[in-house]
Amino acid sequence: MASTLKTQTDSDGILMLTIDVADRSMNVLTPELLRDIGTAIETAAASARIKGMLITSGKPSSFIAGADIKDMVNTYDRPDALQAAFESSKALSSLYRRLETFGKPVAAAINGLALGGGLELCLACHYRVLSDDPKAVVGLPEVTIGLLPGAGATQRLPRLIGINAALPILTQGKPLRPAEALKAGIVQALAPAGELVNLARTWLLSAPEPVQPWDKKGFRMPGGAAMGPATAQTFMVGTALAAKLTQRNYPAPLAILSSVFEGTQVPIDLGLKIESQYFARLLSGPVARNLMRTMFINKGLADKLSRRPADVPKAPVKKLGVLGAGMMGSGIAYASAMAGIVVVLLDSTQTQADKGKEYSKNLLAKDVERGRMTQDRSDAVLALINATADYVQLAGCDLIVEAVFEQRDIKADVTRKTEAVIPATAIFASNTSTLPITGLAEASLRPRQFIGIHFFSPVEKMPLVEIIVGKKTSKAAIAKALDYVGQLKKTPIVVNDSRGFYTSRVFGTFTAEGMKMLEEGVNPALIENIARQAGMPVGPLAVSDEVTLELQYKVVKQTQKDLGDKYVKPVSYDVLHRLVEDLKRIGRRSGHGFYEYPEGGKKFLWPGLAGLYPHAVSQPAPEQVRKRLLYIQALETARCFEEGVVTHPADADLGSILGWGFPAHTGGTLSFIDTVGVANFTRECSAMAKLYGPRFKPSRWLLARARTGQKFHDVVEDQTAA
Ligand code: NAI
Repeated sequence: MASTLKTQTDSDGILMLTIDVADRSMNVLTPELLRDIGTAIETAAASARIKGMLITSGKPSSFIAGADIKDMVNTYDRPDALQAAFESSKALSSLYRRLETFGKPVAAAINGLALGGGLELCLACHYRVLSDDPKAVVGLPEVTIGLLPGAGATQRLPRLIGINAALPILTQGKPLRPAEALKAGIVQALAPAGELVNLARTWLLSAPEPVQPWDKKGFRMPGGAAMGPATAQTFMVGTALAAKLTQRNYPAPLAILSSVFEGTQVPIDLGLKIESQYFARLLSGPVARNLMRTMFINKGLADKLSRRPADVPKAPVKKLGVLGAGMMGSGIAYASAMAGIVVVLLDSTQTQADKGKEYSKNLLAKDVERGRMTQDRSDAVLALINATADYVQLAGCDLIVEAVFEQRDIKADVTRKTEAVIPATAIFASNTSTLPITGLAEASLRPRQFIGIHFFSPVEKMPLVEIIVGKKTSKAAIAKALDYVGQLKKTPIVVNDSRGFYTSRVFGTFTAEGMKMLEEGVNPALIENIARQAGMPVGPLAVSDEVTLELQYKVVKQTQKDLGDKYVKPVSYDVLHRLVEDLKRIGRRSGHGFYEYPEGGKKFLWPGLAGLYPHAVSQPAPEQVRKRLLYIQALETARCFEEGVVTHPADADLGSILGWGFPAHTGGTLSFIDTVGVANFTRECSAMAKLYGPRFKPSRWLLARARTGQKFHDVVEDQTAA
């Protein structure tokens, strides 16, 4: 028992369980812990001396963080997945049921964060007192990883606080602060951390009845039963809303609604069984596996800088130089100053540089206005940014991020001027979105110290940073870039150099496919709607307008110039040419693109499109449109993997979801192929190649993988826990 919890019975007959899972910074529900809780319950049940049980945690400021995700993520791959998932939920649920029914009162002294199965344990206690520390959040985040709480919360929470109050907590997965938890009725009291145990003991010593409200005769659901007038409406609206919000791509919210609806109309034991059945369906399905693996396990590893060369000493950035104070440079300066880094923000004139700093000033003022930041902190952050047009100010910078115009000669010029003043050890990074890093590094005296750090717009909001390794880039440069991304608390992926790198290259296939369909006569409204239904945040035409058609056209032109005879026109070429060159419809910024942007009004598809690209008499089935849009992105990612641009499937997945909004329920572009099955995927691609063109043709390399059934992801072996 020593490795998971300590037990101690005091002279009043209170058995105290102090949960402290060894070798974990936070308690998670390991099989050993559950076994030990079970043993403690039976000890308490059997001993006449024990009058009640008190559960708390030995970890500072945290109770239990939830289940161990690594135990769940591979369920999907098991041949007996559904049964195994049901059994795992039932086992935990039965343990908690035993806790609340073994005949003695149980109190939880919740000394900090209690999430998922951790909060569910508390809900099975007869009394709950929570630390009033604002960091002591409680919640049921299972829905965010494609699951429902499978240890009783869909049954106990509605029975405790009512269906209408429980549903948002269950279906949104947002954590509650202590005051909110008290107000909602999830805990009976709040107390300073040092007094929690005393309060719980006092309650236990008051000889309370060890029976939950729902086990008492004549129990009625607070706020009304599922079919009652006050709640029936909630289910109707809730179901329609969940279906709309998830486009039925995420099964968990609807499963939660069903579990609550069905389970609260029967006795709790049956309700718990219904919950386990719904849980099992989710855990054995692909969405939960994909969300857990990509958005939890792999994102966690990336955030811990798992791709950082281990043999290079840590080198956080102390003084950053940002070249170009335009849209990207000003965002980079803001995000860096917020991370406490001293920033020199340089532009060609002092006025331009000041304008860039103004961006931070405005964002900080908003933070102060909304009460998110004190004036002092805002002043301190702003003071970290030195706006200048003088290169000498860059002296002493240990990292440079260049974000001047996307022109090779200008970039070469600022590289040379900067290298003349910065230390010989400094790392120079370009934020270019399209120009290969190896080529840009030719302007550098120290190409080994040259790297790509590609941010996304708007910098302060977008969570991903794509690190691009050029032919000569050293490990020290990679380590520095990763340390910097870690300081910004963003998620890095590391890719090798190529035109468009990974993210822009694959994203480009999505917009191009949308434009190609438009050209073929597919109704643009159909293209846009199906893209959103598939889970893309915006349709390919709308997003093209956002990044501007002009920029896409410029990139195409530049590539054509660079590659000469080797250049293969993208399928979007003619549409781009027509809109940008002939019609001067350059995108949202100008008010005209595929859409019209009336001032102060809502955008709408430009009616003139129908004249340019008349609707074909026969429109494709929605499924065909969906497949084209998703498969082309996944296939291009496979090509990036084949070419060594992307070397880790996790990078491909994370980059696709966090970089350009590939639907998270798929787990990302390579998880998508694995889920469809490589053989099915290549078969469908070959069929599409016949219909739509050779861009859908799978390579020999991919066909070989399909033949041998080689997935991109192996089963998750031994990863860090929740
Ligand atoms: P921008 O046009 O808003 O800003 C560029 C800034 O560089 C301007 O303030 C300009 O005055 C300054 N500049 C130009 N020549 C200079 C020189 N010789 N010395 C000092 N400053 C000079 O452009 P934006 O959008 O910020 O893009 C900058 C870079 O970031 C480009 O390489 C672009 O490809 C890349 N990028 C852009 C993204 C976007 O969404 N706009 C996303 C990711 C990367």
